[in-house]
Amino acid sequence: MSGKPHIVIGVCGSIAAFKIAVLHKYLRDHAEVTVAMTPSATQFVGPQTFLALTGNPVITTLWEPSHSKPKHIDLADELDLLLIAPATANILAKAAVGIADEPVSTLIMSSLPAEKPIVFAPAMNTRMWQNPATLENVKTLKARGYHFIEPDSGDLACGWQGEGRLAEPQVIAKQVLALL
Ligand SMILES: Cc1cc2nc3c(=O)[nH]c(=O)nc-3n(C[C@H](O)[C@H](O)[C@H](O)COP(=O)(O)O)c2cc1C
Repeated sequence: MSGKPHIVIGVCGSIAAFKIAVLHKYLRDHAEVTVAMTPSATQFVGPQTFLALTGNPVITTLWEPSHSKPKHIDLADELDLLLIAPATANILAKAAVGIADEPVSTLIMSSLPAEKPIVFAPAMNTRMWQNPATLENVKTLKARGYHFIEPDSGDLACGWQGEGRLAEPQVIAKQVLALL
């Protein structure tokens, strides 16, 4: 590692996943970046893209035979900030109840908000964002000390107009770097 702070980005299954490649451009001079992906995220962007951009192995599975220690525990120890972006309705629900069943949710569960900043940048359809379940999960997570970068309003990939667009990569980078 480079001596710079280490940001781990947990990428989830949203059409906005490609924006993490742009976000990396704004982070790379200030931080070492490692990407972990949910299985759904790999439907939107290939892990090879993040490997090429970050120069670090991309975590797409908990079951890596070449590691003697669980990689998610090593990473949770090493990281200075965990950013979940784009954060799906699903990952917010899993984080709120403590489910750890793939690399990103397991990293969240292996990190404590009292020790290191854990930041969610949600992206989803307006109804998903305004769903009472999501609102309750966001409230719960905020009360536990997790940080949020609120989504923007505007054109959504699903054809809707409304709240739920991933915040602009430059905005996410600025807020994340301020937390380091
Ligand atoms: C084309 C497409 C786009 C999607 N975009 C989003 C999204 O922006 N936000 C979201 O919460 N779910 C979105 N979903 C649904 C999630 O991919 C789905 O809930 C999935 O189970 C999330 O898994 P993950 O949280 O493990 O990544 C989308 C699904 C499809 C097929």
